Amino acid sequence: MEQFVFHNPTKLIFGKDQLEKLSEEIPSDVKNVLLVYGGGSIKKNGLYDQVVNKLNDMNVTITELAGVEPNPRLATVKKGVQLAKENNIDFLLAVGGGSVIDATKTIATGAKYDGDPWDLVTRKATPEDAIEFGTVLTLAATGSEMNAGSVITNWETNEKYGWGAPPFTNPKFSILDPTNTLTVPRDQTIYGMVDMMSHIFEQYFHQPTNAPVQDRMAEGVLKTVIETAPKLLEDLESYEHRETILYAGTIALNGMLQMGYRGDWATHNIEHAVSAVYDIPHAGGLAILFPNWMKHNVDHNVDRFKQLAVRVFEVDPEGKDDRTVALEGIDKLREFWTSLGAPERLADYDIGNDQLDLIVDRAMKRGPFGNFKELHDEDVKAILEMSL
Ligand code: NZQ
Ligand code: ZN
Repeated sequence: MEQFVFHNPTKLIFGKDQLEKLSEEIPSDVKNVLLVYGGGSIKKNGLYDQVVNKLNDMNVTITELAGVEPNPRLATVKKGVQLAKENNIDFLLAVGGGSVIDATKTIATGAKYDGDPWDLVTRKATPEDAIEFGTVLTLAATGSEMNAGSVITNWETNEKYGWGAPPFTNPKFSILDPTNTLTVPRDQTIYGMVDMMSHIFEQYFHQPTNAPVQDRMAEGVLKTVIETAPKLLEDLESYEHRETILYAGTIALNGMLQMGYRGDWATHNIEHAVSAVYDIPHAGGLAILFPNWMKHNVDHNVDRFKQLAVRVFEVDPEGKDDRTVALEGIDKLREFWTSLGAPERLADYDIGNDQLDLIVDRAMKRGPFGNFKELHDEDVKAILEMSL
């Protein structure tokens, strides 16, 4: 393993009725709260009223930023920064999925920065301060509730980048009540499970190092999601399955699985470029791209792909060469995601080859990438062409 320091400062508050803890977790000297949420799902399911009642009990002044879009945009972040500055906001509360939380992270830092918040996203500037924030998660997917990452889209320039600056972009606390995820629609439930599995793959494919504990933990979470996913899709209102998937999503990307090595993260980089140009759901893009990234790189370390195939996808290696076993595993992943209802090809989103060069350009903007296997223009183009 490489040397590492693990320090995750987010207080994770998990389980039924845990919203009760909100008033204990927001510091008592807070006066002005910016409440950040999305397109209205929290109004429909009643969570908005519950949160506002709790905040009113605390005698804080509430300012609202509503309408954070899936794949949150810079323009919305700027609106939030302006609201924070104008209203002396001293705490932010994100109530929603990854998009709402990611926007809140960039607002929290942008409000303490004099320039354009895009400077932070593009790492032209480094934040030196932030307003504290907490989250109430409503969708199991990104892990944003317990990591420092924030992914923001600049729709004017068709750029979408992930960035983060611990500890400023780590939530102070995150409240995860599976009840709040019961209303997540079928498509977003599928995307969420694809996203968390993809996060584990991004970490599973790393430079060879001694990490047998991490491997087994990653495989265990993958197998659990694979077992639970069809049951949850049979019964979207199952508290028990929502609970399992909610916890899996957090564990998949809160740093627990990535101690002692750096993950690959190339597929995420390509997907962010696709959704920067076409604004498709993040994990819809991942479902299309990931098996193709795997096929493109299978010969780079065939043993790793074979291990995944045998241990997670239960491919029988008897009498087969390693490459065949590895490829069977990748096919099983594709079959599994298709069986859930995830997209398989860019054509499923009516994406043809007309903007491929723009996507490649956006993916390559920060130079070659991928810590397991470094990718260049021609690799990105090949993976996209396999995905058409
Ligand atoms: O906007 P509302 O009305 O709330 O509806 C949302 C949205 O339409 C809906 N939803 C959320 N909770 C719901 C619900 N509907 C009914 N009931 C509920 N309880 O679901 C839709 C999608 O929400 P969104 O927040 O966009 O989804 P997700 O959590 O998948 O976040 C996706 C974003 O996160 C980024 C992605 O790139 C994308 O921009 N990522 C962030 C990461 C991070 N910070 O660590 C890592 C990821 O790899 C990812 O890149
Ligand atoms: Zn993701």
